[in-house]
Amino acid sequence: VLRHGTTRALVLGLEVVLADGTIVNGLRHLRKDNAGYDWKQLFIGAEGTLGIVTAAVLRLVPAPRHSVTALLSVADVETAIALYAKAQSEIGDALSAFELISGESIALVERHAGLKSPIAAGEWFLLIEAASSLTGLEAAMQVLLAAAFEEELALDGVIAASHQQAQSLWALREHVTEAEAREGRGLKHDISVPLTVMPAYLADARAAVAAVSRTARLNVFGHLGDGNLHYNVLLGPEDHPAAVNRAVHDAVVRHRGSISAEHGLGQYRVGEWQRTKPAAEQALAHTIKQAIDPAGLFNPGKVLAAPNKGGAA
Ligand code: LAC
Ligand code: ZN
Repeated sequence: VLRHGTTRALVLGLEVVLADGTIVNGLRHLRKDNAGYDWKQLFIGAEGTLGIVTAAVLRLVPAPRHSVTALLSVADVETAIALYAKAQSEIGDALSAFELISGESIALVERHAGLKSPIAAGEWFLLIEAASSLTGLEAAMQVLLAAAFEEELALDGVIAASHQQAQSLWALREHVTEAEAREGRGLKHDISVPLTVMPAYLADARAAVAAVSRTARLNVFGHLGDGNLHYNVLLGPEDHPAAVNRAVHDAVVRHRGSISAEHGLGQYRVGEWQRTKPAAEQALAHTIKQAIDPAGLFNPGKVLAAPNKGGAA
């Protein structure tokens, strides 16, 4: 997403089958097309509630020839964001991952996945990757890390010296979800907020969760560069999932974010969508559903809740 945009942004054309059996062929290979409504965007992320996608034209790019991966530890998310700005100026378009992993998440991975972080802990870790077919990535990453140490932004850090080392840094990130499942009862979230308010969101959400639970533990990690984190919460036996869920999402609403940045609503988040989405947007979604699938044939119960007269302000 950092380097090429979301999948949504890479879809050039779709063929869809509508509820009445019409096949709509929009398999165009155009980078620019402003001849009317961009209807394909309605079907992307609709989770099958508007029609059945039977073919797609995707914009592809050549696989990058080189990549370099680094792991850093930092004291707080403000610093992580300052480093993101620095990474953008040092690495530019080649910046392909800027992942945030909390110290708690790394501890879970070390406990359950048999992995070990090669650097000293901070409150947060950053996994940074650059990828390009041009050379010079290694030097750019070195400049970034040197600046990070010089300006005392990073506490510790390492650049992978081989593909294998890069993979073991990535393994720390990729085992977080599995480690959470092994640890106990986890409540998953998939939030996004503007990057500038991410530190404020995290402080707000932490206080909001603490207000409804004394035993909940946080497992926060994700795609900081996209403004999208998994604000997961490990619940104690007495915790109420719905109360914790609401606390995390109410903080999202306060910071004008999304309760589903990448995974979609499914049926799991429909109630929260209904509780938090402004009424006018809910009404618009129902108007679209009614127009395209009036009998409600496609994926009932997903994405859309029953029409809600209330909605959020
Ligand atoms: C991840 C999945 C949970 O970021 O989206 O690991
Ligand atoms: Zn994710």
